[in-house]
Amino acid sequence: MKKLLIVTIITFLVVSCKNSVNQEVKQQGVITKNAMVVSAREEASEIGIAILKKGGNAFDAMVATELALAVTYPYAGNIGGGGFMVYRKANGEIGSIDYREKAPLGASKDMFLDKSGNVIPNKSTLGAMAIGVPGTVAGVFAVHEKLGSLPIETILKPIIALAYKGVIVTKKQEERIKHFQPFFKKVNKDSIVFNKPWKENDTIKYPELAKTLERLLAYGENGFYKGETASILVKFIQANGGIITEDDLANYEVKWRKPIVFKYDDLKIISMAPPSSGGVCLAQIMKMIEPFDLHEFGHNSVKTIQIITEAERRAYADRSFYLGDPDFIKIPLDTLLSNSYVTKRMSDFNYEKATPSTNVSHGNIQIIESDETTHYSIIDQFGNAISATTTLNGAYGSKLYCSELGFFLNNEMDDFSSKPGVPNMFGVTGGEANSIAPEKRMLSSMTPTIVEKNGKLLMSVGTPGGSTIITSVLQTILNVHEFNMTMQEAVNAPRFHHQWLPDDIRMEPNSFNPPTIKNLQNLGYLINEKDSPVIGKVDGILVLMDKSLEGGADYRGDDTAVGF
Ligand code: GLY
Repeated sequence: MKKLLIVTIITFLVVSCKNSVNQEVKQQGVITKNAMVVSAREEASEIGIAILKKGGNAFDAMVATELALAVTYPYAGNIGGGGFMVYRKANGEIGSIDYREKAPLGASKDMFLDKSGNVIPNKSTLGAMAIGVPGTVAGVFAVHEKLGSLPIETILKPIIALAYKGVIVTKKQEERIKHFQPFFKKVNKDSIVFNKPWKENDTIKYPELAKTLERLLAYGENGFYKGETASILVKFIQANGGIITEDDLANYEVKWRKPIVFKYDDLKIISMAPPSSGGVCLAQIMKMIEPFDLHEFGHNSVKTIQIITEAERRAYADRSFYLGDPDFIKIPLDTLLSNSYVTKRMSDFNYEKATPSTNVSHGNIQIIESDETTHYSIIDQFGNAISATTTLNGAYGSKLYCSELGFFLNNEMDDFSSKPGVPNMFGVTGGEANSIAPEKRMLSSMTPTIVEKNGKLLMSVGTPGGSTIITSVLQTILNVHEFNMTMQEAVNAPRFHHQWLPDDIRMEPNSFNPPTIKNLQNLGYLINEKDSPVIGKVDGILVLMDKSLEGGADYRGDDTAVGF
């Protein structure tokens, strides 16, 4: 029976079509009655579900899944990075936690510039200077303390056991490790475990990571931010040219933040507030497109793509200018999210012609694709829901791996604007609002999101994908709400992305109708099908009419829904 639930088979069901007497074949993901975890690795989803089966709640399972991803998915899962979680308790109470990395105390605005004021290539992306002070361990302990119910031993022990036992290499992982080995060799002084020629079905064991996790079991978050781990970590970072100190680690603290909440038709969307741009940008885009009848225009039709693109263009231009760490800058949130402002912002939209981004603002940048970061969604048997996105930023972060402790360090410093107007590794241009300062949090695109309909929980959703996170979450919600897709169909559907600069529509290759592309080109849109083989790896859970749960696990990764 268990097997039946955990295997991500696609079941085909015949469901009645809303507006038609015809029957339509719908593709559904895993359906379970009580609870579900969807994450980037089956082993992590299993560990989360096992915690729920022991009577734990979604918050206990969040701690378990987050740390299990650090073991099973070192590409993005982490204890050397940070993230955000949005939650909705069964009683309707909502909240969010920011366990984003911070700039070290020794950071400065120009730390990635040379004497002539030019950005030093790779300094904010590769190696020890790229590392922000990690927040993940503080995040999971804060969640456990405030909202968890099981003893921390119950949660940590299976993860430690998994790290000792090892994790099987998937085909996709084999390819990723191979692809990044030249960077591991370039950045690390000594050989690391990932330099070996790992093949699919090999098992990689992580005994050093297990020992690091054992120190969390013994000392709580102090087992990371103080004592032996902190001392080893700081020595390692500094020996590699970094500036993080023991004070930086000891001073790290999470922030509980009020989520961004807005309406779209009869939906209430609950998403992450700054220092993530996710919630604000998503709100702006959805408010701009709400007056248009996307359902009538059809999924991925010319008009639908045009309207969404024009809204994205305007929202991303605002993102670049206004958004940053709210503890350091004043963000005009009320204005940015007001109906009058977003209406005015879309007032020059015209069906006949693309709006050039130079008319919205200006810039000229290179595009660099990425699909790092990782997301997981959980709904428990009590009705609590969480949506969490966590990251090392780039694939395997800074590529710097502390072998003694068994984990990669992030390169989150690249999410600051090293020099306003110059794009980061996601091709996103930042402004003064996101400039570097000691202890400041860098702007993020992570968009962990929960959706309510008529006051009831409808969906938990999110994705990796750098700057494409926001637009992938957007399309997934629209696919369900406007285009009547199942959760799995909404996740599977081809995605596109516009981010103001560069002024092109990125599309997943060979997945959009050639006549649609031609029509968009005729309207003046530049179509880019070459830079993004995939856009996002969305994981989500949909509450169905009969209260059962449908998992949408993205086929673009090894993502898996597990439930009971
Ligand atoms: N580092 C990716 C993000 O925070 O959006």
